Amino acid sequence: MTSQTDSAETRQRAHLERLEAAYASILATQGFDAVLIYSGHAGVHFADDQETSFKGYGHFVHWTGASHHQHDWLLIQPGSKPRWYYYAPADFWHLATLAPTGVLAEMLTLEPLRDTGWPPPRQISARRLAVIGNLDASSMPLGAELNPPALLAALDELRMRKDDYERHCLFVANQWALAGHEAARAAFADGAGELDIQLAYLAATRQRESQVPYQNIIGINHHAGTLHYQHYDVEAPDVPRSLLVDAGHAHAGYAADITRTWASAHADPLFERLVQGVKDYQRRLIARLAPGLDFVDLHRDMHRHLAELLVETRLISISAEAAVECGLTRAFCPHGLGHSLGIQVHDVGGRQRDNRGTPLPPPAADPALRLTRVLDAGMVVTIEPGLYVIPMLLAPFRHGAQRDAVDWSVVDRLQDHGGIRIEDNVIVTTDGHDNLTQDKLIAEG
Ligand code: GLY
Ligand code: MN
Ligand code: MN
Repeated sequence: MTSQTDSAETRQRAHLERLEAAYASILATQGFDAVLIYSGHAGVHFADDQETSFKGYGHFVHWTGASHHQHDWLLIQPGSKPRWYYYAPADFWHLATLAPTGVLAEMLTLEPLRDTGWPPPRQISARRLAVIGNLDASSMPLGAELNPPALLAALDELRMRKDDYERHCLFVANQWALAGHEAARAAFADGAGELDIQLAYLAATRQRESQVPYQNIIGINHHAGTLHYQHYDVEAPDVPRSLLVDAGHAHAGYAADITRTWASAHADPLFERLVQGVKDYQRRLIARLAPGLDFVDLHRDMHRHLAELLVETRLISISAEAAVECGLTRAFCPHGLGHSLGIQVHDVGGRQRDNRGTPLPPPAADPALRLTRVLDAGMVVTIEPGLYVIPMLLAPFRHGAQRDAVDWSVVDRLQDHGGIRIEDNVIVTTDGHDNLTQDKLIAEG
């Protein structure tokens, strides 16, 4: 256990020691002598020489933080120092890959690779070798096992609980993303459209677009009602009413995933009230985070809170219980309450019970819920309740048995505001939780 005052290097050293010990134990339990992890490589657009975007394999990034490294390998062979083969071709078209430095250079053996393809077999003495990564089974060296499911389940489980180093990375990522959200809000207040808000966000977070952990969602007015809205209008609308920004930052491979929703002076007063209502119950849900809490229960409680807000604001005229029961709240919010967060925005392990990978599927009514586990100290989760006007989902209610349960004139008034989502990133601690999505000074590292 490291302490708050430890340096980033001390935490990173402890992180790598933890991984070495955990990998040794997992490999021994599963009867492997070594595992070779491939970072992956970008595809090439068809009939073109331009590459697609790239993000390194999570289990490779877990050790290296190098999410931009392509064609690299990491050999974990207990008894020897982990060996990082980093691809550094002789290439005058691109800047040469620099050798990793700092704690990584201290704790891993580094070996440059001039060519793509398998690392030299001379250092791999495993009788039983696992290889993990996005590779073709037909290309496996003789006897190697590609992506053994039990091994992947155990390694995914290791990613579920974040150590001090990882929490620190998530904290720093959050601090940058918060600065970006502030810039986005200011740009919106100045009359900027979606593209200019995106550019203001990137400038404030010091990221190019290929570095963000997921494509920023920046929706003005009805675009805020498309859950993963993927465009940026160049021009601002004549009457900007609302802005939803779901945008993050990556620090050493760890992602922030934050959403804020803003109402402009042109917004319907009810929309502002709904934004405040969602914020209020988001805080109440966060206040309950602690080890032992079943995330599926918390997700169900999000629907109860949402139903109560719809009743209080007279959007619906049936009881809160009836609104949940008939599925109406799921039409207003079809996604899950949150998910595990780490190297991947939707991090691995959220739907398994244990390190054997015992499946923990979501309830039939909540197929989009990505985290179905009982919480435990070290888990980092998002809490992101929403409330949207999505005509496609509301249509069956509008034209069905519940048509009198909803005040459709109010729904229509809100439609050009799109929707609301409020999303924070929270660590579950031994005695409760720590919300990373709060303004604090950027700590060292
Ligand atoms: N940014 C995607 C999500 O919130 O899950
Ligand atoms: Mn998000
Ligand atoms: Mn999220």
